[in-house]
Amino acid sequence: MLSTRRALAAVVSVVVLAASACGSADEDSGSAKVEVFTWWAEGGEKAGLDSLVSRFGTACPGQEFENGAVAGGAGINAKQVLNARIAQNDPPDTFQVHAGAELADYIAAGRVQDLSADYDSWGLRAALPQGLLDDLTVDGKLYSVPANIHRANVVWANSQVLSDAGILQAPKNLDAFLQDLAKLRRAGVESPLALGRDWTQLMLLESVLIADLGAKRFAGLFTGATSWKSKAVRGALNDYVQLLAYSNADRDALDWPDAERLLIDGRAGYQVMGDWEAADLAAKNFQAYEYFTFPGTEGVFQWLADSFVLPDGAGNPDGTRCWLKTVASVDGQRDFNLAKGSIPARTDVAGDGFSAYQMDAMADWKTATPVPSCAHGSACSQDWQNTVNATLGAFSTAAEKDVPGLQAALAATAARYVQQ
Ligand code: GAL
Repeated sequence: MLSTRRALAAVVSVVVLAASACGSADEDSGSAKVEVFTWWAEGGEKAGLDSLVSRFGTACPGQEFENGAVAGGAGINAKQVLNARIAQNDPPDTFQVHAGAELADYIAAGRVQDLSADYDSWGLRAALPQGLLDDLTVDGKLYSVPANIHRANVVWANSQVLSDAGILQAPKNLDAFLQDLAKLRRAGVESPLALGRDWTQLMLLESVLIADLGAKRFAGLFTGATSWKSKAVRGALNDYVQLLAYSNADRDALDWPDAERLLIDGRAGYQVMGDWEAADLAAKNFQAYEYFTFPGTEGVFQWLADSFVLPDGAGNPDGTRCWLKTVASVDGQRDFNLAKGSIPARTDVAGDGFSAYQMDAMADWKTATPVPSCAHGSACSQDWQNTVNATLGAFSTAAEKDVPGLQAALAATAARYVQQ
């Protein structure tokens, strides 16, 4: 066995050699870098990105992946860094952006390039569902390549915690869910609902709104067709407050993987989170869980899609096109989604190898009613989302839960963006 010092010296020289080999290989081959900007920095999210990177390595010789990830769930930190870079005309070669309203902001600002001709040459129009194409199209043009479809209205549960408290089936509606949360608390689980900071609170609120208003009226909240001032919204906010009372007091300091940790460690029974959680639990080797659609939202698929763009002013457009083509491809979508927990955006990727959860999601995506997500950019603009996140964060920390005040604030925000 090598002594520690010799082992260290050996490691150092290997690293130096590897670095110089790398440098010369780069110089020799003239490989160009493609900086890919995401917020996928750990767990199942990183595993998804790694799968794409390995496909890219095979499909795009001469191009080198450069990781521009900035950690923070839902891009809470990444989006700030990205927007500062864009403002300084220093965009990455490509960045992750949600299909829908969030993407529309970048298009309106002229920050992303038209990819319609690439869609045609890659045969992508025929491979994507029409509804998604419609959400990606602005004035007849396509500006981003979707990698997946995620579902947001899902509850993840720790099987052991539930069975210890005698909870043996999924609640059928919101009242039953509240009763199960009360049961867990009586059984000694102090914070039965694991929750994190602002945007995760928005996810919870959106699920409650879907349950109480139904798919159509929920979607109308973001188009102006449904008023935020109604009795039904007031009822949903009251339900939300009840749910909040079952969550952990330190929620405002936690990102979603921290809240997930409460679930894994058996300190909570449930967490409402998008289906990236399935991949993350797998990456963290936790199997003793179950999942169900948020009570009262069965038959509704709250969707969001991660997509990639070619920014205006990207340094390496050829390399970026090759990245986008990889993201768009059957193989790229299979490998990425197998690891990421989502389902392919393409309709022609074979189902073999996908998890039981993913098979369920694929079946539901075909039959359920789709509604968009504000927390993940398919329903509302970034600005709208930021404002609601701040409102919910403040509501969470306030000792007195002023529901009429919350409703008025949400209605006033909506009125800035849509006519009601
Ligand atoms: C979403 C994103 C997902 C997942 C999640 C948590 O906004 O679309 O892919 O990464 O955030 O970070």
